[in-house]
Amino acid sequence: MSDFDQLIDRRHSHSTKWEKYAGQDILPFWVADMDFAAPDFIRNALHERLEHPIIGYTRPPTTLTEAFQGWLNHHYGWSIPAEWVVWLPGVVPGMNMAARCLGAKQRLMIPTPVYYPFLDIADNAQRQDVRVPLILDRGVWRMDLERMQSQIGGVKMVMIANPQNPTGRAYTQAELAALADFIDRNDLILVSDEIHCNIVLAEDSKHLPIAQWQPDIAKRTISLFAATKTYNIPGLGCAAAVIPDADLRTRFQAREAGLVSSIGPLNIAASQAAFNDTSDWLDQLLQQLRANAAKLGALVGPRMTKVEATYLAWINIADLGLNDVEAHFESHGLGISDGAQFGQPDYIRFNFACPDVLLTQGLERLSKALQS
Ligand SMILES: Cc1ncc(COP(=O)(O)O)c(C=O)c1O
Repeated sequence: MSDFDQLIDRRHSHSTKWEKYAGQDILPFWVADMDFAAPDFIRNALHERLEHPIIGYTRPPTTLTEAFQGWLNHHYGWSIPAEWVVWLPGVVPGMNMAARCLGAKQRLMIPTPVYYPFLDIADNAQRQDVRVPLILDRGVWRMDLERMQSQIGGVKMVMIANPQNPTGRAYTQAELAALADFIDRNDLILVSDEIHCNIVLAEDSKHLPIAQWQPDIAKRTISLFAATKTYNIPGLGCAAAVIPDADLRTRFQAREAGLVSSIGPLNIAASQAAFNDTSDWLDQLLQQLRANAAKLGALVGPRMTKVEATYLAWINIADLGLNDVEAHFESHGLGISDGAQFGQPDYIRFNFACPDVLLTQGLERLSKALQS
């Protein structure tokens, strides 16, 4: 049995995903963590750190930065200097810090649907956002640069997720080049959340870090990375902002302003082990996720656009005409995410990162839920 076949009972572990439906016959396919064990090499690193009995405040060590630099090189052939890296306890704090770099009247542009914390960021920073829907172009979700251009007034920053949550897009080089041109032409800052970068499923897709592939706009970018999604350690937050421009980096760091906590030593130990990984664990994970995506796709058919990356499927349910989307799926024993949360009703997001036995049960229920 592989690490990815084993059904691990997560009830009574204070799991956000599983506790939501405690005591009910509802299987959770909502929040974005996986029902797979974190790999041994990460758990061993945690045990090793615990050999020291004091878990005090910790500065991110150079070994963490070196591991991150090595990881960028290993996966993307991207070599960056250590000074570009700002360590953070999570990607979401980094997005909020970035928005605080905007002037009082400057606005934030967000292509939607998108991971729901994006939708709170402008409010959190007492700024305004401009939301521009992605367009579905022959089965592919794309940024609508024409509409983005027409709504550019007052905008100084664009914030994207690539790979995109919830649509599962991995933007192509041509799309990133067009976005880079838009950013440059309009004198903007780009925040690119690339937390799902390792989870590329489609054979013909690959992750392209925008600051690497569009060097002309690197000085305008804040790219956010973490190993926590890939290795299923989101409870041990640790993220890296890569900011090539020294002035932008200084402004970004100044926005920390007592709001953002330091990174715990266990989080650092786990992420360092993850960034140093060159084993086949990730390949095995991707193999399992590809098989799961194929099973889900076979069941839901054209309701679902191709998941190029992430372990999240974006499924059209407009024809069901539901008033309460979550309640409908819960009544069929399924916990899913309502698309409205991401800024697009008529869709659900389905997290398929789980062992086959669980997915099989979920798909039986989903089949009924989509028919009734
Ligand atoms: C696109 C995206 N960004 C950020 C996060 C969360 O990042 P963190 O836990 O490091 O704040 C998630 C989690 O699902 C995500 O999907």
